Amino acid sequence: MLDRIYRASVLGVAGRKPIEQLVRSRAWSVAQRFVAGESSASAIAAVQELARDGILSNLDLLGEFVDNVDAANEFAEKILAIQNEAAAAGIRPYLSVKLSSVGQGQAVEYGEDLGYLNARRIVGNARRLGGFVCLDMEDHLRVDQTLQQFRALVAEFGHESVGTVLQSYLYRSEADRSDLDDLRPNLRIVKGAYLEPGSVAMPVKADVDASYRRLVYAHLKAGNYVNVATHDPSIIDDAKMFVLSHGIPKTQFEFQMLYGIRRDLQKSLAAEGFTVRVYLPYGRDWYAYFSRRIAERPANVMFVLRGMMRG
Ligand code: FDA
Repeated sequence: MLDRIYRASVLGVAGRKPIEQLVRSRAWSVAQRFVAGESSASAIAAVQELARDGILSNLDLLGEFVDNVDAANEFAEKILAIQNEAAAAGIRPYLSVKLSSVGQGQAVEYGEDLGYLNARRIVGNARRLGGFVCLDMEDHLRVDQTLQQFRALVAEFGHESVGTVLQSYLYRSEADRSDLDDLRPNLRIVKGAYLEPGSVAMPVKADVDASYRRLVYAHLKAGNYVNVATHDPSIIDDAKMFVLSHGIPKTQFEFQMLYGIRRDLQKSLAAEGFTVRVYLPYGRDWYAYFSRRIAERPANVMFVLRGMMRG
């Protein structure tokens, strides 16, 4: 419950324009702990650096909801460009996309959804290049549409080219997981980063954690590929025990963490022979992403304030 109050306060304050302007102008040096630069060249350099420690990457061009066709198309073009740029640098273009940033919810000719049309171009390009696209999960109002669009994309391009995310704080996620089973989907399981009402999301952290474990175990038992995306050491240890005791091979799952968080754990898991992938956000539009990271952990507020005072 306290977690929720803390998160609501930070996101509430962060959402105010003057605060955004202040943080944007004073906190870039702090944000760089979580964001791998503003350009695609800096993102590619970060991918190469992680690779030296045996860690894979998941590129994320930062950007959230856009409300016009041109901006959505322009954003999609930038994603297509980074896919091509990564492939040209010898990197498998594995990336995440927020459908709201490429036009989800905007109807174009014949009533088609612009986000879906752009996602088809991006997933099609990933398939052509041997890459992968994970559709990030946003707030609960987008879950139905995202899962429907995911289903259509898997039907067209296959589960080797596209995956999506389920959030364990949502009451609906266990049912969503089993509904998707026929697709053999590649799913990233997360706890959930948005401020959601109690009618749809569990308010108590222990329940969110228990739901997280159930989702991971059910998806593994169903024989599907799981991205265990968390920094929670006890969940990670339990997942390791689960796969060991159920004879599940290391090729059926990977651990995923966010850029700049628990680097020690990322390295030690990779050294133990587990696949580890880091979600690597980059781009000029870093503020909303950065605010969610701060809202996850009280100690981060002090970290930001200290950085701003220095900065
Ligand atoms: P929890 O919050 O319980 O933290 C466990 C421990 O991790 C903490 O005690 C601390 O040590 C460390 N930690 C966690 N957050 C930290 C932070 N910000 N700074 C410093 N230390 C921190 N969410 C979503 O809604 N949609 C999505 O598509 C995604 N995608 C995604 C991809 C990947 C690869 C990851 C790892 C996470 C996401 N998330 C997400 C975010 C997710 O929902 C969640 O908010 C964060 O992962 C934090 O939760 P943990 O599982 O780490 O556990």
